[in-house]
Parts: sequence; C-alpha cells; structure tokens
Amino acid sequence: MRTAAVFTALFLSTLIALAEPHSTLLVDVDHRPAMSLDGPWHYIVDPYRGGWGSNTDEPGPHGYAANTHYVPGGPLQEYDFAKAPVLEVPGDWNSQRENLFYYEGLLWYQRDFTYHPKPHTHTFLHIGAANYAAHVFVNDTLVCSHEGGFTPFDCEISSVVKDGPNFVVIAVDNQREVERVPTLKSDWWNYGGLTRDVSVVEVPDTFIDDAVLHLTNTGEIEGFVHVTGGAAGARVSVRIADLHVDQNAVTDEHGRAKFTFHPSGLEVWSPEHPRLYKVEYAVGEDRLQDDVGFRTIEVKGDEILLNGKSIFLRGVNIQGEAPIRGGRAYSEADAETLLGWANELHCNFVRLAHYPHDERMTRLADKMGILVWSEIPVYWAIDWTNPRTLDAAKQQLHEMIRRDQDKASVILWSMSNETQPKPERTVFIKKLITQAREEDPTRLITSAFVTRFHDKTAVLDDPLAADLDVLGYNQYIGWYTDKPQAAPEYKWEDPLHKPVIMSEFGGGAKAGMHGAATEPFTEEYEAEIYKQQFLMFKNMPFLRGLAAWVLMDFRAPTRLLPGIQDGYNRKGLVSNKGEKKQAFFVLQDYYAQKQK
Ligand code: GCU
Repeated sequence: MRTAAVFTALFLSTLIALAEPHSTLLVDVDHRPAMSLDGPWHYIVDPYRGGWGSNTDEPGPHGYAANTHYVPGGPLQEYDFAKAPVLEVPGDWNSQRENLFYYEGLLWYQRDFTYHPKPHTHTFLHIGAANYAAHVFVNDTLVCSHEGGFTPFDCEISSVVKDGPNFVVIAVDNQREVERVPTLKSDWWNYGGLTRDVSVVEVPDTFIDDAVLHLTNTGEIEGFVHVTGGAAGARVSVRIADLHVDQNAVTDEHGRAKFTFHPSGLEVWSPEHPRLYKVEYAVGEDRLQDDVGFRTIEVKGDEILLNGKSIFLRGVNIQGEAPIRGGRAYSEADAETLLGWANELHCNFVRLAHYPHDERMTRLADKMGILVWSEIPVYWAIDWTNPRTLDAAKQQLHEMIRRDQDKASVILWSMSNETQPKPERTVFIKKLITQAREEDPTRLITSAFVTRFHDKTAVLDDPLAADLDVLGYNQYIGWYTDKPQAAPEYKWEDPLHKPVIMSEFGGGAKAGMHGAATEPFTEEYEAEIYKQQFLMFKNMPFLRGLAAWVLMDFRAPTRLLPGIQDGYNRKGLVSNKGEKKQAFFVLQDYYAQKQK
C-alpha cells in the first residue's frame, strides 16, 4: 500500500513537474528598469491545500488562481482575495503575523497590477526569492513553478500579460520535506513567503540574459555575454569608460559572444581598495549595466592568494535575519547594519550561512571590500540518494552562481555544511563540485565539515577534501566539546596541505548576563572561549581564515532554554536587539592585531 502511494505521488509530481512551465533566470535584474510589485499583497492561508481547486496539487478550474470575486446571490464562492488581509512583500509571513509565526505550509498571495507592454518586447515577472516552492499564476494562467527558497527566478509572462489591468497569484509552500534542500532539520527558522523583491521586467526581443567578465592571472579580462532571441552573428559590445575599453564580438550558434582584452591602468579590486567599474553591455536595442570589480583568487599549496598575494580571512558568519526587526533580512538597511558590524570587527570576510543571502548583501560587500563565502543549504542529513533532491541542489547551485558570478567580493562557493561522510553523500556532493567548476572555473570551491577529533587531534581528511580548493572545519571546543581552557591542547593536521578556514567556532551568551568565565551563557564565558581559541589557532600553520559563529543571535527552533535562549541561538557576538557582547570586543581586538 505505502509503496504504491509513494509511487503515485512521485509519478504525479513528475507529471506535474514535466507539465509545469519552468522558471528562467535573468542576471543583473537590479540594474534593469523594472516595475516594482513590492508592497501589500492579499493572502490566504491554506493548510488543507484547498486553493488548488482540485484534490491534488494540480491547478483546478475553481482554484484561487482564478481570483474571482464573491457576489452576494451570485455563484457559490468560498474565498475572495479582495476582502482578504494583506502581507508586506518582500517579507516572510512568520514575523509579520503572530498567528503565522509557526505556520509551515501553503499560503496564497495575490495582487493586481496595471501594465502596458511595448511591442517587440518580452515581459518577465522577477522574484528575488520565495521560500520554498512557488507556483506563479498571471491572469489565471500558470506561468512558472520554482523550488528553492534563497535564489531568484524569472517567469516569462509575455503571452498572458494584458495591456491594462492584470492580476498575479502566487502559491508559496514552505512545508519541510525529506527530499527538499534544506531537509527536515536545520538550526534556523523556516521563514516562509515572498521574502525578496518582486517586479515586472521588460526586455527587447533580443536581450542579454547572462554576462560575466573576470580578470585572469595574466592580466587579461575574459568573459562572455549570452544573448536570447537573436540569430548567431549578433554584434555585442562591452564598454568600460574608465578603462577606455570598447570591445565588440559576435554571438556563436549558442548565442554566446566571447571577450578577451588587456586593459591598461586597471585598478584591481581588494578589501583595501574595492574599486568597481561601470560596465555597459549592449546588443541590438538591449542595454545592461553592471558594477564590476576585477581581482584574481586562487590557491597555492596551503595559501589563498588574492591578486597574487597571500591573504588571511578575518571573518564572521552571518545568518540572513534582520537585525532588531527580526524576520528574513531583505533591505539595504539590513545589509548595512550586518556588514557594518562585520566592518567594526575589522573583518575582511563573511560567511553567508547557510544559503544565498539577499543580493543587496553581495552588492554591498562589493562596495565595502568584504570577501564572501556563499553557500547552498545542503545542510546536515540531506536525502542523498533521491534524484529530486539532487536536482533541487543542482538548481540552487546554478542560480547562486548565476546571480553572483559578477561579484568580485564572492570568492568561495560552498557546496554543503556539516554533512556526514557517508559514500552516498560524497557521491552527491562531488556532482555539485563538478557542476560548480564547469559553471564558474574562476572561484574557489569549499565545504564546511564537522571536525572529528581523535585524542585531541583533528585530522582534516574528509573524503571530499581532495576535490575541494579550500577546507572549512567547524568546531565548538569549549561549548559542545570540552572546556574553553582545553582548546590550546588540541592539535591539528592538514594531510592534504590545503588552505583551511575555521568556518565555525564560538559559544553562547545571553546579552547582559554576567558571571564567572566558567559559567556557560554568561558574556564572560563566551569571551573566554574566544581567547582560548586564539591560542589554539597558533597550532595551525595552514589556517588561512576564520569565521566566528555567529555575528548576531538568530531564531532557531530547538533553542528553547527559558529566560536564556527563548527560541534564539545565542552564539551571537551581538544580540538580536543589537547589544554587543564582550566577545565582540575580544574578537575585534584580535582582528585589529591580525590586520596590522
Ligand atoms: C552548527 C551549524 C550551525 C549551528 C551551529 C550551532 O555547526 O553549522 O548551523 O547553528 O552549529 O550549533 O550553533
């Protein structure tokens, strides 16, 4: 019985997946003219998934996507968006409505919009992120479906958008499922909803949907522009006024135009000098601008070289949660506060854990000169042998790379966090590594592992390590393991002689709670953990970077110690209310020394 049900569900979802129009992805949308659809959207909470108007998750005739309105005495109707409450977009639903704080499931969004499409254009609905699965309807037509809660996607609506009034309905489902990425368990809040900007973007018939340039070790700038809707031989230009660059190339049969040129007087991008250049791409009627920094990143033995020079990454982990206000972070102000604190710590590096953050974070990191580790949420116990899970991970990896391949700040793509070294896991992640190297051979590939100790010695030899450029290791000596003062006794071996980043270390403290340095959850205890860690790091000559866990206390579903955790992971250096703890200043001093 059970196997038959699983098979039917699988068969149905494959059928639906095959039938549903897929999303696409335009790059650099934040530089394109667009009509924002941010603001209040009506919503209907639908735990019983009645909005489909059918008994399956397949749109039926009388589903909410039709957006019909109730007329007293008229046909029976048991919903009406026009009379329904509203939620702000962008924004998660959990932090906007107390009665939705714990809600996980299906929720329908709806809003009207007026649009006047121009001739010879394509119209797309751009969604910065929707957690987790989204089905998008415009004027009662399914225009695309998408899975993955932290990456952008675009739905072509040219064939359904009308000249005048239109309406959009989006079904968002953040139900945790075994086969999803992330899976059932994570140590962050499963905020649901349209968590990032939504807009209508118009492009000419022939348009640029992908463009990237990077600096090579020999001083060339290389890259490509991909054109959709144009015949082979289309003339594409790249202009960089500040470098007197005006290059032309033509597209091949795949719509790709390749560029290689040697600019003179280039100022390379670095944390000390985050120089960005205005780059203008053009083909036919289409124009696309971007702000691009040029730098090289590579490994040499156990060193990480930025622009050919060895660098030490002074970093901190950041969860995508809004300071003070709480909820999913999405605004410029959120990014400025979070990266502002990192800057105050003298960081030149941040790990954006454990999923791609809002593009405002990587754009601002480009401007501020902060190096970035970006990661997909292949986190803990993923359903390694499930092909749908692999597809979901691959898609998120593709979209993460596609969105941020133009960001000089992003130097590391991380494939996973704290996954058990089982054969099926290693096979799964090796496929992601291969894909990442194909899609972007210019950046470093890493993963974060749980550190395994044998008698206080850590041997950094995870089966995946051989395939990675940089190894990330998480450990919590002084918190989950041993006493803080034991840390300097721990020895570390790097048999593969690869650069190592301590991708997580730290401990918890309730802001304002004081006591002996031996009393967990006091600020003194957290500070002591840091001091002892710094002594231990001296035992690691191959250590090339640090990322303290974590910049700010954040909501976490299993952290429930009353009066201390109250639903928050308290390992922040700053509380969720913005109070800096003692450990903040201990790390600040340490990084100030390291910076010298
Ligand atoms: C893990 C994990 C984090 C988690 C942290 C903690 O290592 O990667 O997501 O929040 O430890 O336990 O606080």
